Amino acid sequence: MPAVAVALCAAVVALAALGGARARELSPGYYDASCPHVYDTVRRVIQEARAADPRILASLLRLHFHDCFVNGCDGSLLLDETPTMRSEKAANANVGSARGFPVVDDIKAALEHACPGVVSCADILALAAEISVELAGGPYWRVMLGRRDGMAANFDGAQILPSPQDPLDNLTKKFADLGLDDTDFVALQGAHTIGRAQCQSIQDRLYNFSGTEQPDPTLDRAYLAELRQRCPAAAGGDDTGLNDLDPVTPDRFDNSYYANIQRNRGVLRSDQAMLSAPEESAESTGPIVGRFASSQAQFFQSFSTAMIKMGNIAPLTGSMGEVRRNCRAVN
Ligand code: HEM
Repeated sequence: MPAVAVALCAAVVALAALGGARARELSPGYYDASCPHVYDTVRRVIQEARAADPRILASLLRLHFHDCFVNGCDGSLLLDETPTMRSEKAANANVGSARGFPVVDDIKAALEHACPGVVSCADILALAAEISVELAGGPYWRVMLGRRDGMAANFDGAQILPSPQDPLDNLTKKFADLGLDDTDFVALQGAHTIGRAQCQSIQDRLYNFSGTEQPDPTLDRAYLAELRQRCPAAAGGDDTGLNDLDPVTPDRFDNSYYANIQRNRGVLRSDQAMLSAPEESAESTGPIVGRFASSQAQFFQSFSTAMIKMGNIAPLTGSMGEVRRNCRAVN
């Protein structure tokens, strides 16, 4: 192996080891003394927001994913644009799509009132994800806490967030590179049991799949007709119309997402590919889809485990980073 490659491998191993060491510094009781009501405060603000906007639970869950996959779970996603720094919010996967930022502001304001300068924005996203899943009827897990906030956004990193157009083996690799195996991957995709996708996220599947000028052959015909009605070709590629990611129980966190895939009713190409893309390593993910479709308990168990693993991606701890006063800007 050339020296550069060896050095690179060593650096990656060292970084992974450091991430592991830092993750072990996180603990569920991190704020027990410094901000004892942190969980209830976050939950109250989310409950209030949910009364006006039931979709907010899904939107908050997604923010934690988009935060952790770029520079680790460091709140970098929340930073607004400055003259010298591009915001991750401007990246393709987030612009016009990632939502819930004002609710994160409300949570931060409530926590700054209760315990100023104590709870990080990265931890707010981790707590908000768990609380949102629970409020939607999903599993409960003890959220590891003690992350600190990063000092910079990483726009380029956000540009390579997983895309529904990525082939399945690229997607599983993006997860594996962050320590998330195929079971974690399939379980985390189950987050699409709640929330919405814009027509522009599925337009290619409906009208021109992989440049064939035909719909995606893995999409159920009756469901294709329904989706085409909601997302007319005439609206073009920037249609912001919304589709339930789980058309059976759109706002309930359950395992029907996997049964939908078994009926060829996965909404995003990347949802359906886990079962229907044998040439892209679905032989590994397909059986896991089947297992979760037949056992909600196994899905919930694997989802909780995978969320904790995702939340452990390269956290900043100790004296690294800072605790932002305002999640949108460094102090
Ligand atoms: C292969 C990986 C993934 C891809 C390609 C993907 C892609 C997408 C896309 C395209 C949307 C719709 C965006 C829009 O049209 O505005 C979406 C929505 C969503 N994603 Fe994913 N996603 C992935 C994994 C995840 C993971 C790991 C989670 C959380 C653990 C997650 C949670 C959500 C949620 C809850 C929504 C709905 C958000 C809302 O309604 O505001 N996704 N995802």
